[in-house]
Amino acid sequence: MLFFGGDYNPEQWSEEVWAEDVALMRQAGVTMVSLGVFAWSHLEPEEGRFEFGWLDRIMDRLHEGGIRVALATPTASPPPWFTLAHPEGLPVTADGVRLTHGSRDTYCVSAPAYRAAARRIATELAGRYARHPALALWHVHNEYGTDCRCDLTASAFRSWLQKKHGDLDTLNESWTTAFWSQRYSEWAQIMPPRATQYLPNPAHVLDFRRFLSDELLAAFAEQRDLLRAAGPQVPVTTNFVQGGWVSVDHARWASEVDLVAVDHYPAAADAEGEAETAFGADLARGWAGGEWLLMETAPNLIYTPGRMHAKEPGRLTRHSLNYVARGSRGAMYFQWRQPRGGAELFHSALVPHAGPDSPVFREAVGLGRALRTLAPYAGGPVDARVAVSWDAPSWWALQGGGLPAADIDYPAAVRQVHRALYRSGVATDFVFPGQEGFEARLAAYRVVFLPHLFLVSDEDAAALRDFVAGGGHLVVGHLSGIADLAGRIRLGGYPGAFRDVLGVRVVEWRPLAPGTTIALDNGDQGIRWSERVETAGAETVVRYAGDVLAGAPAITRNRLGDGVAWYVSPGLGDDDLRRLLDRVTAEAGVAPVLPGLPPEVEAVRRGDLLFLFNHGATPEIVPLPGPGTDALTGRALSGAVTVQPGGVTVWRGE
Ligand code: GLA
Repeated sequence: MLFFGGDYNPEQWSEEVWAEDVALMRQAGVTMVSLGVFAWSHLEPEEGRFEFGWLDRIMDRLHEGGIRVALATPTASPPPWFTLAHPEGLPVTADGVRLTHGSRDTYCVSAPAYRAAARRIATELAGRYARHPALALWHVHNEYGTDCRCDLTASAFRSWLQKKHGDLDTLNESWTTAFWSQRYSEWAQIMPPRATQYLPNPAHVLDFRRFLSDELLAAFAEQRDLLRAAGPQVPVTTNFVQGGWVSVDHARWASEVDLVAVDHYPAAADAEGEAETAFGADLARGWAGGEWLLMETAPNLIYTPGRMHAKEPGRLTRHSLNYVARGSRGAMYFQWRQPRGGAELFHSALVPHAGPDSPVFREAVGLGRALRTLAPYAGGPVDARVAVSWDAPSWWALQGGGLPAADIDYPAAVRQVHRALYRSGVATDFVFPGQEGFEARLAAYRVVFLPHLFLVSDEDAAALRDFVAGGGHLVVGHLSGIADLAGRIRLGGYPGAFRDVLGVRVVEWRPLAPGTTIALDNGDQGIRWSERVETAGAETVVRYAGDVLAGAPAITRNRLGDGVAWYVSPGLGDDDLRRLLDRVTAEAGVAPVLPGLPPEVEAVRRGDLLFLFNHGATPEIVPLPGPGTDALTGRALSGAVTVQPGGVTVWRGE
């Protein structure tokens, strides 16, 4: 079965509306809804008093309608009574402001009162519903990520630091506290990073972010374990979210959930929205190491900066099937029914304010049908021979002040590499340095790209070296391999961790001002970044041709063992980067999913299915790999197929 449905909030509606909801869900072919995500104040209206009658009734009603439930624990949004009874359970910002209820996610994960209240409501739900026939999945909390800098956090942070560093000498060394007189002589002197006079210590900030991710994970694991104890047959997950504010290292969380579930909201209305969808799905599949579940996306909305963009006809279907093509076990949305009020009253829904007589609901009905038709064939793997690294700690390390350029943008650097591969139609995975099994996972790939992998351990650097020596192709971009995991520079020339594998040594950084470029001798223009590179064994493929760097190496290629390691020193525009990456993948023997496609057509292969997405406005004729069937219509296909504008064709080979 493919999951199709979304966040459902019956607590916002009367029971007459529930009856209509279930009827409409059946009409649309909804298979699962997420229930109770923010329902704490309805489930526990006062401390220790529970009201489950309404949840019993809707669970039963959904079950009668054949709809499964991902039942949430509502702990992302403590009710107002919690605030008043346990003010220390509220988060404090770095500026020392204690936040209060009035929005959501207002909790301090280190506060014992919050943790106890979260365990209590989760225990009640587990006891009551673990064996309910509608229950398919536990959905713990919602998008863990709240940051807090209070005194309770301080004490939990210190315990984490003690476990990590053992003694203060080690911590002082690791944090370079000799700089600016920050040497700690008692654990009690260490605070979470709080508002301070000038730049904070980056190692302090980095460890705090790691701590917070682990602390949130501990809160998740606590709920997971008690849910499992009540009903071991039901898988447990929590919805990860991809976004700049997120304080969680999902690569470390992935092994703690039974199914990786991800919320993904592309933010561009143009063709970039499609590239973002592909990126979000590929990253999610990477975390999962295979199948995952799209837990939320917006049915009919793209939040572009400053404006909500309604999706064009067909785009809901294309986006949704794209996630499925890239490994999702279905397509779930925020949300089922658009609310009458509340903070997100204009966020789109499968049933909008206009009601079911609306384009979005009609498209949802068609999509439900398509998902039902594809379900028997959609479980196969996505096979990629190239991978890009993703590393939350490197992202965090490149977010602070005091960096060589203010416009260093970790996600943008990773996105750019993914986008280049996406545009060339090359199936792409992600790998996660620091994750258990990193070295073994590298073995699946012909080419690995490291954009802005600022922090790297000796072990992972050695694994990447072995990958090359064993015949792999490695492409390292600037700002990679610069520091150890504590953020201390690897001395002797950048990129310290990869100098030997690359056969280069970088002796000076020369970041470029926005809008300026530096000429390269192949006619390309360097942007954002330039450096003085010296070769130490590598062959120079492209040289800088301008500025004081004229004649110095810019792009190099080093043979090592049976493989090749490329160094890309300047920033490149999308087209220039894509040409370079095309050369690398071709040399490595990696072909696009379907060669020779029109630019508007995207091809994704999952198991026996080949998804063809036409993002353009004209019909496109696509040559097929062989005879087969149109998996959506059952029609026989051979030779070539015309994919309609804004449409999707799914070919299933014979
Ligand atoms: C997140 C949340 C949802 C909703 C959506 C839309 O992903 O989990 O509750 O707020 O964003 O903004």
